[in-house]
Amino acid sequence: MKKKLIQHTSEHFEKLFHSQPQSIFLSPGRINIIGEHVDYNDGFVMPAAINKYICFAISKNENSECALIAKDLNEAYKFDMKDELKPVEKMWVNYILGVLSQLKDKYGLVQGFNIVFSSTIPMGAGLSSSAALECGIGYAMNTLFDLGLTKENIALIGQKSEHTFVGVNCGIMDQFASVFGKKNKVIKLDCNTLEHEYYKADFKKYSLLLLDSNVKHTHLTSGYNVRRQEVEAGLKIIQEHFPQVKTFRNCTENMVLELKEKLGDTVFRRCHFVVKEIQRVLDAAAALSQSDFKKLGELMSETHQGLSKEYEVSCEEIDFLVDAVQHEKTVLGSRMMGGGFGGCSINLVEKGTEETLIKTISERYADAFGIELKAYKVKISKGTTLYKDNHAAIQ
Ligand code: GLA
Repeated sequence: MKKKLIQHTSEHFEKLFHSQPQSIFLSPGRINIIGEHVDYNDGFVMPAAINKYICFAISKNENSECALIAKDLNEAYKFDMKDELKPVEKMWVNYILGVLSQLKDKYGLVQGFNIVFSSTIPMGAGLSSSAALECGIGYAMNTLFDLGLTKENIALIGQKSEHTFVGVNCGIMDQFASVFGKKNKVIKLDCNTLEHEYYKADFKKYSLLLLDSNVKHTHLTSGYNVRRQEVEAGLKIIQEHFPQVKTFRNCTENMVLELKEKLGDTVFRRCHFVVKEIQRVLDAAAALSQSDFKKLGELMSETHQGLSKEYEVSCEEIDFLVDAVQHEKTVLGSRMMGGGFGGCSINLVEKGTEETLIKTISERYADAFGIELKAYKVKISKGTTLYKDNHAAIQ
């Protein structure tokens, strides 16, 4: 799959620009084991990069002209780095321009380039194709033009692009996972300090299976930004009563319970979820290092209940997929993954039973919603990389 992606992206570049691309970059999507909607609440998250990628075939130009070719969409966008870079109608272009405008303003990037990109990360499935796009561009520009960025810079630039050019006030999890991913490692990220540790992604008898509801979301129109406003309002009220609370990290469940009336029903449920979820990630990290998969599965399922009932970012189809595996003995845990309002569920499933499960759930899902279920058995892979430079393979 990866080889084919690289080959067709490269060939398309050659066809359009009549020369081979100077470099090929790969930028992965991500999964998240646990820690949902807490990255922008100073919590911990446990994501990992996966073997689904955006592939970029790139060559520098001698002048400041740029051509972006989105092969899968059959669309192109041309501009000049000397022009003022601002958001445009085409959303995919904004993810890229948002990164470039920062590189231009802060790091003096003015030289042009041609890019063809193509992807195996399904869009709107909660696998962070947008972060892969932002980070791939940041990483590629840094490598080609020697901008001196750190990996952390690249992740933060990607996040800022989303805030300023796309309009989604996302946290740092997706970009961080895309850039910092390591083969067979889960990242435990402290979203407050960006300190992180890697955990062995060894699930022994179990594997991670994604069930894609095929319900597409865009966080621009989903309730994502509203959730951020709700928790910010909640935190303010909590801080008025408990000035020692700096972030949700040092807010306890009891404090939230005590302020139930003052917070009001909705904000109370949002804050309660956040405090519980931050703790669940710590418990999950302990369970993973002790190979206690039963516990890990239970925590994942608890997260889902919180996301669905308290944070209210699930949807009917995803709830159905999670409920449907609840009584399957071969499934230890299941929950919606990512921003929500559609996308995938992530399931901890006994190895070897995946196909039977996919078959059963697909039939039930098609009966209930008339939608075809997709399933992905993902592998945990390394983060954004330069795959080939001047056709000398470097990995
Ligand atoms: C989206 C955002 C992330 C994170 C998740 C929910 O993927 O981009 O920053 O908030 O939703 O955990």
